[in-house]
Order: sequence, then structure tokens, then C-alpha cells
Amino acid sequence: MNVPTPPSQPTAAPSAPDHETVIEVDDLLMQFGPQTVLAGLDLKVRRGETLVIMGGSGCGKSTLLRLMIGAITPTRGKIRLFGEDIAVAGETELDALRRRFGILFQSAALYQSMSIAENVALPMRELTNLPEDLIDLQVKMKLEAVGLREHADKFPAQISGGMKKRAGLARALALDPEIIFYDEPSAGLDPVTSAEIDQLILTLTKKLGVTSVVVTHEMDSAFTIADRMVMLDKGRCLKIAKREEYERIRTTTKEEAAMLPEDDRIVRQFIRGDAYGPITDRRTLTSYADDLMGLLAPLPASPSITPTR
Ligand SMILES: Nc1ncnc2c1ncn2[C@@H]1O[C@H](COP(=O)(O)OP(=O)(O)OP(=O)(O)O)[C@@H](O)[C@H]1O
Ligand SMILES: [Mg+2]
Repeated sequence: MNVPTPPSQPTAAPSAPDHETVIEVDDLLMQFGPQTVLAGLDLKVRRGETLVIMGGSGCGKSTLLRLMIGAITPTRGKIRLFGEDIAVAGETELDALRRRFGILFQSAALYQSMSIAENVALPMRELTNLPEDLIDLQVKMKLEAVGLREHADKFPAQISGGMKKRAGLARALALDPEIIFYDEPSAGLDPVTSAEIDQLILTLTKKLGVTSVVVTHEMDSAFTIADRMVMLDKGRCLKIAKREEYERIRTTTKEEAAMLPEDDRIVRQFIRGDAYGPITDRRTLTSYADDLMGLLAPLPASPSITPTR
């Protein structure tokens, strides 16, 4: 008689430093040559949340995303993805990690020579052993989820910017990821298409329990999708807080704003898109100081005017 083997014990999910944290960024320094982009940044992303990352152009948002997915190596500091230090993970571990997240790049980054369906199928072909008929089925489901099933055979050059973003999103969904990284998902889209992308992000997060890390400059979008928001400034997290707290700062009157701490006044100017405030004041001061330094530089080392006394 065949004795059935006992079912194997369910294996525990890869250990995370604490139950809620799926990404932990610790004292992250990123330098490109002489330029310091991230200067000791700390950040935690919790399972199931949508975290919106904001900050001025060039402040390092895309760089932070690329570091989080292990595409580039930090100058210093640690990044743990699902509890694993990605700096020490070998190729096999990295491949296993890559199956657990999807990315929608700033430019959608579709392969021009492949149809939309082939673009979506690519991660499944590269990172799984699924048979072709199952891949076809999965591709149809992902394209349906983003409203592109009827355009499966078109090429990227034949579809609009909004459709490209959706196709990029379908590809990010290919492996049913636990985390999706979005780099400016609604930039350059008309308001309705942008709102549709927001709804897609909300649906994915709330219905499927996906964790979303979204870089965006679109404030309507940020306030629609975020559970928490973080503003990067000078290579660090200036403020990380729930959406409600950001909403409170956004709606303070000018008189109330004068009483806010400096960091909150910076956040306020940014999220309101005000032309005047601490960000622009700081810029003016900095460039004035630079100008003065520029004037001082050519001065001779020794005084050319001999003191009379
Ligand atoms: N590979 C690289 N080599 C050198 N410098 C780089 C590299 N990648 C990014 N940088 C620099 O790092 C800084 C941050 O770039 P990043 O693309 O992360 O900014 P961002 O916050 O995403 O800006 P945007 O809002 O315009 O997309 C920029 O000054 C950029 O020139
Ligand atoms: Mg960017």
C-alpha cells in the first residue's frame, strides 16, 4: 500500500525585518562623480500601501527607484527588498526577487520591434517556464486589465502615449508582482487618461493588495492614490507622512503657513505649486552666493591696494 507522504510544511515567507516592511532603505548615499544625489536617505515601504515619492526635477527620484530594484549600486548604504539585502544577493536570488516586482518606467520603455502582446509576454518568457499557451492566456488577461486587449498586435509606434503607459503597466503586471514601481505614470497624459491610470493603480493596490511606489509630479494624482507621501529634498526624505497630513499642509492659509516649521513650508510650496516661498527663496540666495563667489574668485591673492596706514 502506498503511504501518502505528509504534506510538506508551508514554507514561511522570506523573512522581512518587520512584518509590515517590504522595502527598507538605510542610510543610502548615491554619488555620480562629484555630484551627491542621495545623501544618507532612510525610508521604509509597508506592504499593501501606495507610497508617493515627490521632489523637484533632478532631485533623485528615478535614481532612488533604480536603486530600489537593484539596477544600480549605491555608493554606500543598504536596501532590503522583502528582507533581502540586494547588494549581497547573487544572480539567482536577484532573479527570484525580480519576479516579485514590476516596473513602469518614466518612458514606458517598450521594445519598438515587438508587438504590445510580445512586450507583455517578455518577462514571462524570460523569468518563468510557463508554456506558450498559458503565456498567451496571461497576456490577454493583463491587456484586458489595462483596456488594451483589442490592440495586442499593434506596435508601440502605432499607439498613443497613454496607451504606451498602459502597455508598460500590463508588462509590469506580467508576473503578478507584489510591488509595482511607477515612474511618473501620468506625465504627459491628458487629464482623463491620467485619471484612468490613477484608477488602475488604485484598483491594483486595493483589490489585489499590491504595494505601489509611485514617483509623480501630478498633485491631483498624488492626492488620489497615496496612502503616504514623501518629499525628497537635498538627497534626504524631507517629510514622510500620511496623505491626510499632506492635505492639511496643502490647505493651510498663508497666515497659518507662516507658523509652520520650515520643512512643512517647503512641502507646502511644492505641493501647491506656489511661485514664491522657501524653495524659491533658497534658490535666489544660493545663486546670489554663487555669483558673489564667482566675483571673488578672480581677485588677486594679495591686496592690490597698499594700505595707507
Ligand atoms: N547615470 C548617471 N550618471 C550621471 N549622473 C546621473 C545619472 N543618473 C542620474 N544622474 C544625475 O542624478 C540627478 C538625479 O537624476 P534623476 O533622474 O534621479 O532625477 P529625478 O528626480 O528623477 O528628475 P525628474 O523629475 O526630472 O525625472 C540628476 O542631476 C542627474 O543628472
Ligand atoms: Mg525621473
